[in-house]
Amino acid sequence: MRRKLAAGNWKMNGTSQSLDDLQTLSKSHPNPSVDLLICPPATLIAPAVQTLGNSAIHIGGQDCHHQTDGAHTGDISAAMLRDAGATAVILGHSERRASHHETSESVRDKARTAQRAGLMTVICLGESLGQRQATNTLDIIGAQLSLSVPDSSTGENLVVAYEPIWAIGSGMTPTPDQIGEVHDFMRSRLERRFGPGVGRSVRLLYGGSVKAANAQEIFDISNVDGALVGGASLTADDFTPIINALE
Ligand code: G3P
Repeated sequence: MRRKLAAGNWKMNGTSQSLDDLQTLSKSHPNPSVDLLICPPATLIAPAVQTLGNSAIHIGGQDCHHQTDGAHTGDISAAMLRDAGATAVILGHSERRASHHETSESVRDKARTAQRAGLMTVICLGESLGQRQATNTLDIIGAQLSLSVPDSSTGENLVVAYEPIWAIGSGMTPTPDQIGEVHDFMRSRLERRFGPGVGRSVRLLYGGSVKAANAQEIFDISNVDGALVGGASLTADDFTPIINALE
């Protein structure tokens, strides 16, 4: 009942030349049976939307401000993302929580504004290696989930991505059991808070060193509805086998 989702987070990578890869991706997946979302840097959102034309690939932002407009130099609003053609936004990525001091409360405020603007919000959660080793993972994830996700969330406007900080760009991944434990936990927390209808329809992504070689094993885990992919989403060659594993 939940459509699978393959999402690419290009982070601070990509110039206009990268649009060629988007075109390749859209040609090789003309009618994808899974949802595809690419989140390029803000400078490429409008050109990417234009390049893709009426392709089924969605384009998203990597952040937005919690206010709708005003004096916030360097920031981007949810309405601006929509205006550029984005349909989604990643919020609360651990890199932003660390470098921009984002808290779960500020992520929730951003998500509320983004959802009001009609964007699907991909809210990221994840524990550090120290927190995992101290067996605090579920406490951390439970707190981040309850504080970062706004009450206005629905099965359509919310996606939650579990991204262990120590797995991002490191080549390390949790075991399937560890991923399954966190995803089952997030599902039960969402069902308890929003009721079974919404709780069961929110898509849960895994992120952190997803590659062609491990994608199938990860997608076979219960309550994994897709992936949020960093490095391996930068080229059509690397991303295609991951999409294929989901289809
Ligand atoms: O948001 C995606 C992410 O942080 C994972 O990055 O490069 O490990 O796939 P990567």
